Formats: sequence, C-alpha cells, structure tokens
Amino acid sequence: MADAVQDLTVDEEVLDGYEGAIPRHVAVIMDGNGRWAKQRGKNRIRGHQAGADAVRCTVESCRYLEVEVLTLYAFSAQNWGRPRREVSGLMTLFNRYIKKERERLLRNGIRLQVIGDRSRLSKKLQKAIANLESASADNDGMTLQVAVSYGGRDEILRACRRLAGLAKRGDIPIEEFDEELFSSQLYTADCIDPELVIRTSGEQRISNFLLWQVAYSELYFTKTLWPDFDESQLLAAFEDYGKRQRRFGKTGEQVAE
Ligand code: IPE
Ligand code: IPE
Ligand code: MG
Repeated sequence: MADAVQDLTVDEEVLDGYEGAIPRHVAVIMDGNGRWAKQRGKNRIRGHQAGADAVRCTVESCRYLEVEVLTLYAFSAQNWGRPRREVSGLMTLFNRYIKKERERLLRNGIRLQVIGDRSRLSKKLQKAIANLESASADNDGMTLQVAVSYGGRDEILRACRRLAGLAKRGDIPIEEFDEELFSSQLYTADCIDPELVIRTSGEQRISNFLLWQVAYSELYFTKTLWPDFDESQLLAAFEDYGKRQRRFGKTGEQVAE
C-alpha cells in the first residue's frame, strides 16, 4: 500500500490496521476551530492554526489509504462576513499552508485544486494557488480539492449563467441540457461525487457545501472538533460508511443482489 508516499507524519500503524471500506471521494466540513480555541481560552485564530495541523493529518491519511479525491471545506462564501481580523488571519494561514506544504504535496503525488470564487482572494494568494495547481496538475496519487470562498448556491448559479451563455450563442440547444452537461459547468467538473461527507463539531447541516454533488452522499457527523480530528477518527468515519447500504432509490433487496 502507498508505495509512492514519502515522509508522512501520520501514524502508519493505526492506518495499517484498518481493513474496512475506503470511499473514493471523501468531503469534509472542517468545523469547530473557534470552539476548540474558546475551550482553551485562546483566540479563534489559534483554533484555525490548530485546524491547519489537522488538515495535514487528514490529507496524508487519505493519501496513504489511497482515497482518490479529498475535498476540504476551508472557507465559505458566507465566511467573508466574519470579523475582519479573523478573515485576514485565515487568509494568512492559506498563504502559509500553500508555501509550507508545497514540497510535501508534490513529493507525495497529490494534485491540488481550489474550488470557489477565487476572484475575491488577494492577487498574491491567487498566484500562489495557480502556481501550485499547475505544478501539481499531472500528479495522480490523490486529488486534493480545497473549497475556498466557496458557496454551493453560488456554484449552481454560475453554472446556470454559463449554460445560458452557451444556449444564447446557439452552441448547445436547450433540449440537450442534462445532468452531465450541468455537472460539467460546476467547479467540480470531471470529479466523481463525494461518497462520504464528514462534518465535525456536532453541527448537523450542509452549510452551502457541494449542494448539487451531495445528492446521494452518505453523511457522517461527529462531535469531535476539527483540530482534534485524527487518524482514528477518520477510520471511524470510514468504518461507519462501510456499514451503510447505498440504495440510490432502489430497494434494499435490489441492491443486495
Ligand atoms: C471552521 O471552524 C473553520 C471555518 C469556518 C473557517 P469555525 O471557525 O466555524 O469554528 P466554530 O464553529 O466557531 O467553532
Ligand atoms: C462551514 O462552517 C464552513 C466551513 C467549515 C469552511 P461554518 O461554521 O461557517 O458553518 P455554519 O455557519 O455554522 O453553518
Ligand atoms: Mg463553525
């Protein structure tokens, strides 16, 4: 397992002992950094810093377990409405993450892709993202999709605008609009839908994440706050996922056949 992975910081012994199901696409709503900090009498930014360490752990664990796509919800379109200091602290962390993890991501064959409205990010961050995206474009170990300045409704509207443009120009007749064509206009074009969505911190909602793509995803909620989410928590989520029967509208008997 994991022949091309190098110098990972994850607990390989914990991961090697796992024999259950592994979803192909895992998406995570990384929630609870603020509460984690509050519990320790620290400011929220300290919680986000601790959250960044948990990101590395989950990225490396998924890579090690040969997950194909990992999507992380890092900053929503609505998170722009947070206090200015918190927003700029988060932006600093994204910049730092790209710089610090660059070599490690490339060494481990991980392809980075950022989804969301990147025009709202600073020019410097946009450049750093574009740079790492192109440097990692040919990697096939795992795709890491990071949702930044991302909103699901936003993404759907954007796709509608693009389709309307195609129709208006006469490029595609409206009768040919179908789910496949619609999907191809989303940020996640070419990507399989998430099989498992994990949300930390006890909240049980989607918060505008991948609205179109989660139509049939299995949802897993844990009370663990994101900075405390580690290898064994990830495996617990996978294990739970493995017990589900995914029916896609059919009967249990049909699926069991
Ligand atoms: C998730 O943690 C990170 C972001 C939304 C950027 P929160 O910052 O939402 O943490 P809580 O929900 O306040 O605990
Ligand atoms: C969702 O968390 C967004 C991210 C994890 C980036 P929020 O903390 O912003 O979600 P709500 O506001 O509690 O729904
Ligand atoms: Mg939150």
